[in-house]
Amino acid sequence: MLKRSHRCGELRASDAGNLAILAGWVNTYRDQGRGLIFIDLRDREGMTQIVFDLEDSTPTVIAAAKALRREDVIAVSGTVRVRTGGPNPKLATGDIEIKVEELEVLNKAENPPILPDEYESGKINEETRLTYRYIDLRRPRMQQILRTRSQVTKSARDYFAGHGFLEIETPLLIKSTPEGARDFVVPSRLHPGSWYALPQSPQLFKQILMVAGCDRYLQICKCLRDEDPRADRQAEFSQIDLEMSFVERPEVLSMMSGFVSHLWRDLFQFEVGEIPQMKWSEAMERFGIDRPDTRFGMEISDVSDLAAQTDFAVFRDALAKKSPSGKIGVVKCLVAKGGAEKLTRKITDAYSEWVKTFNAGGVPTLKCTDKGLESGIAKFVTPIAAELIARLGLTAGDQVFFAADTWEIATKVMGELRLRVAADLALIPTGKWNFLWVIDFPMFDWDGEHNRWVALHHPFTSPNPDQFEILATDPGACLSSGYDLVLNGSEIAGGSIRIHRMDVQERVFSLIGLRSEEAQQKFGFLLSALRHGAPPHGGIAFGLDRLVMHLVGTDNIRDVIAFPKTQSGGDLMISAPGPIDEAQMRELQVRSTA
Ligand code: AMO
Repeated sequence: MLKRSHRCGELRASDAGNLAILAGWVNTYRDQGRGLIFIDLRDREGMTQIVFDLEDSTPTVIAAAKALRREDVIAVSGTVRVRTGGPNPKLATGDIEIKVEELEVLNKAENPPILPDEYESGKINEETRLTYRYIDLRRPRMQQILRTRSQVTKSARDYFAGHGFLEIETPLLIKSTPEGARDFVVPSRLHPGSWYALPQSPQLFKQILMVAGCDRYLQICKCLRDEDPRADRQAEFSQIDLEMSFVERPEVLSMMSGFVSHLWRDLFQFEVGEIPQMKWSEAMERFGIDRPDTRFGMEISDVSDLAAQTDFAVFRDALAKKSPSGKIGVVKCLVAKGGAEKLTRKITDAYSEWVKTFNAGGVPTLKCTDKGLESGIAKFVTPIAAELIARLGLTAGDQVFFAADTWEIATKVMGELRLRVAADLALIPTGKWNFLWVIDFPMFDWDGEHNRWVALHHPFTSPNPDQFEILATDPGACLSSGYDLVLNGSEIAGGSIRIHRMDVQERVFSLIGLRSEEAQQKFGFLLSALRHGAPPHGGIAFGLDRLVMHLVGTDNIRDVIAFPKTQSGGDLMISAPGPIDEAQMRELQVRSTA
C-alpha cells in the first residue's frame, strides 16, 4: 500500500516540484474529455486536486482512473505542481495540484445514498443522514465538530489535571439515581428478577469518592435518562463531571469559571473575564426564567400596583389569585421597543394562542401611538395610562404585552414571550458570549398534586450556610447552595454544595416525603457513608454536548454527537432499540408482552 507523505489539506505552492503521496476519498470526479481527469481527494484534513493526464499514464492507471467514482478510497503518488488552471481560492491547497503517477484503488464504494457535500443543498433529510452516519460524518463541518469536541475534552483534562483533579470512573450498572428522570434498566441474568439501573449521573458515586478521600474528581461520563429528546436534550448524553472536597460555593465557582476562561482562551483566544452572578429571584423577576439570556434587554416589569387601580377583570382576577406555593397573583408586562409595526395582529393573536400551552388565558396587549395607548384593553387602562407610559418609558411605536395570573404562570409567560418576541424582532445579537452564574435557588418547589416539596436541584443539595434554621421552620423560603452556569440563555452546567451531615440529609428526605425506610433502601449506602467521615464537598457537571453546541454554533444537539438518537430515541444506523431473541429473554427471565 502506498504510504501517505502528506494529508489532503497540507500541500502548498512551496511544495511544488516535490513528490507526494496522498490517500483519501474521491470527493468529486471530472472527466473533461481532453485527456485529463480531475479529482478532489478528501481526507479529514482537507481536499487536494489530483490530475490524471491520460497521455502519459500507463494503461492500467488509465483504466483504473476512468473507473473511479465518488467516495471510492484511493491512494496516489505524483508530483506537486502549481495549478495549471489557476488557483482555487476556496481550498487551502488551492494553489497546487498533484499530477498522478501511481494510483492504488484501496476500495471501491457502492453508489453512495448521500454525498457529503450534498448537505448544503438541504435536500437530504436527517433520517438518511443518521442511517448513513459514516458518510454524513465525512462532511468537513462534522469533522470540525468532532475535532472541537475532542479539543474540549482535552482542554478539560489539561485544566483539571493541572488543578489536582483525578480522573476516576464510576460504574454503569447501578441502582436508581436521583436526577428526577426515568431510569433505563437492565435485567440481571445472575439475579433473576433483579434489575440494574443505568446512571442518570454519577452523582452519588462522586460524593462517595469525596468521603473516600479522593479530594478532587473528574470524569467525562455518559448519563442516561429515559426522557423525550429535544433540540438540546438526548436520552444518552455526556457530562464533564466534577467534585471537590473542603470547599464552599465561592471556591467551586471560581474553579469552574477558571475552566471556562481556559477553554475559551484555548479555542478562540477569547477572554471571558469575570462571570457575573445573579440570584434566582432576580433572574425570575427580570427575565422570567432561571437561565436568562442577557444578550439583550427587554426586561420584565411588575405592574401589579398599577393594575390594581383599574377595573379590568383580567387584572383584578389575577391579583386575587394565590398559587399553591402561597404566592399572590401578579400583573407583569414587557415592552417590545418599536415593535408595534412588525408585530402584526396576526402575530400577537398567535402569541395569545401559544401561551395557553403554559396554562395562561392569553396576552393582553397595547400599542403606544402618538395619540396614546391603543387596543381592545386600552379603555381599561385609561386611569393608569399616564403612569404606565412614564414607568415603562413608552414612546410611539412600542408594543406592550401583559401577563396577569398566578406568579408562576405570569412569570413563565413573560419569560417565554420575551424570548419569542426577541427572536421575531431579531433582537438577539450574534457573536456574544454572555455567561452568568445563577445562585440562591429555592431548595424546594411545592408539588400541589402530591402535596409535598420536591427538591429543585437534587435532594443532596445543601441549604446555603445561613439557611439551616429556615430549613427547619420554613422550607419554602429556604435557599439552596445550588448554582447553574448559563451561557446565552442555555444551562450549560449545574451543581451544588452537598449535604455532608446525616441529620440534614434525613431532614431533606423527610421534607420531600421520602420515608426513612425508603431512604434507607434507596440511599442507605450514602447515608452510611455520611456517617463515616464525610468532608464538606461540592461539585458541578457541565453538559458536554450543550457546551459543544455553543462552541460550534448549532441548535441541534444531534450535530455534536457522533452517533445520536432521533427524536423518538432510536439509532437509525444500527436499528436500535430492537427485539432480543426468545432464548435471551428466557435466560433473563423477562417475558414479552407482545
Ligand atoms: P444536571 O441534571 O443539572 O445535574 O445536569 C448537568 C448538566 O448536564 C446537561 N444536561 C443535558 N444535556 C443533554 N441532554 C440532557 N438530557 C441533559 N440533562 C442535563 C445540562 C446540565 O446543566 N449530578 C448533577 C450535577 C451536580 O450536581 O454536580 C446533574 O447531573 O447542561
